[in-house]
Amino acid sequence: MKIGTTHPSSARSSMPDPTTAPPQTAPTGTSAPAGTTAPAEPVAFPQDRSCPYHPPTGYDALRAARPLTRVTLYDGRPTWIVTGHAAARALLADPRLSSDRTHDGFPVTTPRFAAVRDRRTALLGLDDPEHRTQRRMLVPSFTLKRATALRPDIQRIVDGLLDTMIAQGPPAELVASFALPVPSMVICALLGVPYADHEFFEAESRRLLRGPTAADTQAARDRLEAYLGDLIDRKQKGETGEGVLDDLVRGQLRDGEIDRADLIALAVILLVAGHETTANMISLGTYTLLQHPDRLAELRADPALLPAAVEELMRMLSIADGLLRLATEDIEVEGTTIRAGDGVLFSTSVINRDEDVYADPDTLDFHRPARHHVAFGFGIHQCLGQNLARTELEIALGTLFDRLPTLRLAAEPEEIPFKPGDTIQGMLELPVTW
Ligand code: HEM
Repeated sequence: MKIGTTHPSSARSSMPDPTTAPPQTAPTGTSAPAGTTAPAEPVAFPQDRSCPYHPPTGYDALRAARPLTRVTLYDGRPTWIVTGHAAARALLADPRLSSDRTHDGFPVTTPRFAAVRDRRTALLGLDDPEHRTQRRMLVPSFTLKRATALRPDIQRIVDGLLDTMIAQGPPAELVASFALPVPSMVICALLGVPYADHEFFEAESRRLLRGPTAADTQAARDRLEAYLGDLIDRKQKGETGEGVLDDLVRGQLRDGEIDRADLIALAVILLVAGHETTANMISLGTYTLLQHPDRLAELRADPALLPAAVEELMRMLSIADGLLRLATEDIEVEGTTIRAGDGVLFSTSVINRDEDVYADPDTLDFHRPARHHVAFGFGIHQCLGQNLARTELEIALGTLFDRLPTLRLAAEPEEIPFKPGDTIQGMLELPVTW
């Protein structure tokens, strides 16, 4: 059995790591909020899913406790968790919640995260106005127009990978032969990172996001920073090609609007977020569609449903579960006070199944208005790459099922390993045949 999870799994919480966990203050407003049902027992967060496309059954109590309640982190510390859709969108847009992970009390969900939380983090770890300065440098490269202009390149990448997979199969392992290389090739071309180095940065990204120990995570971060620092130096000398990083080197770095260390931190987040997340959506999206043959038949019969199908898969799969913030002032939420200094998590998988917004939320339905989901976050940190991700998903899933109409799983569904709950959700492997 591979590292990871196969269904059904038992709920699992990580063990405390006193050597890496920073001091945290417990939330101070301890009374159960009016109008919510606080779970009788503290719920651990994160937990493993039992089915890769549903929230962990261990979160049922969270689903019953809207709009916010408490969970216990791996080291036993309590923190708030937002579970209601309206409250989530209001709070994610609220400047009294900070993303600066160096605050004492910032919620630390894994020992791995504790190990790197003091590192310089671009975008995601910054509040405005610093955040806005960095985001403005990148927005022009991630518009819908830019993603649309990339369609022919993405289609070429997808076709080329499928040509190879079809020539070599069946069967195939879809993560390695398709789900991972598609976004990896796309982000390399967009940033100006040589794809020849993909084995290195894919492995280090994996270690960063789910290394076995905190030391592994730190070492992976060191190696990625060293690699991208070297690449940026080469770009400064005019040694390499074209891409977003080249534009930043020739523009903002040269003009002193960003320094080398911040540019490296930015490159790390763009490279890692740019391939790992979308790869997981492709693998888990494929698995989910294969487990819903009626929906797949519907999609095949009407390819115009593809954008809606991608949106609904984003909502249902909520692969980035557990966004992290800290309250810098007291905040009232429907009769409950989050105190200044309290940690606040957002469970996207629970929020995206709020019955007040999504009828029959556990059902995959391409006809619902799913667009207001928070799978890409919300507010100032809403995913920079969402236009690119949607475009990649439409082309990857659409072309895969178009070219391989008999595509099916090559193992029993419950034998196929998927990722544990403390990282971005997705399949570890996906054996398929056709
Ligand atoms: C389906 C795939 C993806 C998912 C599910 C996803 C999810 C998310 C989420 C939930 C956030 C907000 C985090 C928070 O508020 O704490 C985020 C932010 C971000 N994402 Fe994505 N993402 C995806 C693809 C991408 C791609 C392709 C890129 C390309 C570079 C990217 C780059 C970023 C960046 C840079 C941020 C930080 C934005 C900021 O802080 O202003 N993501 N993403």
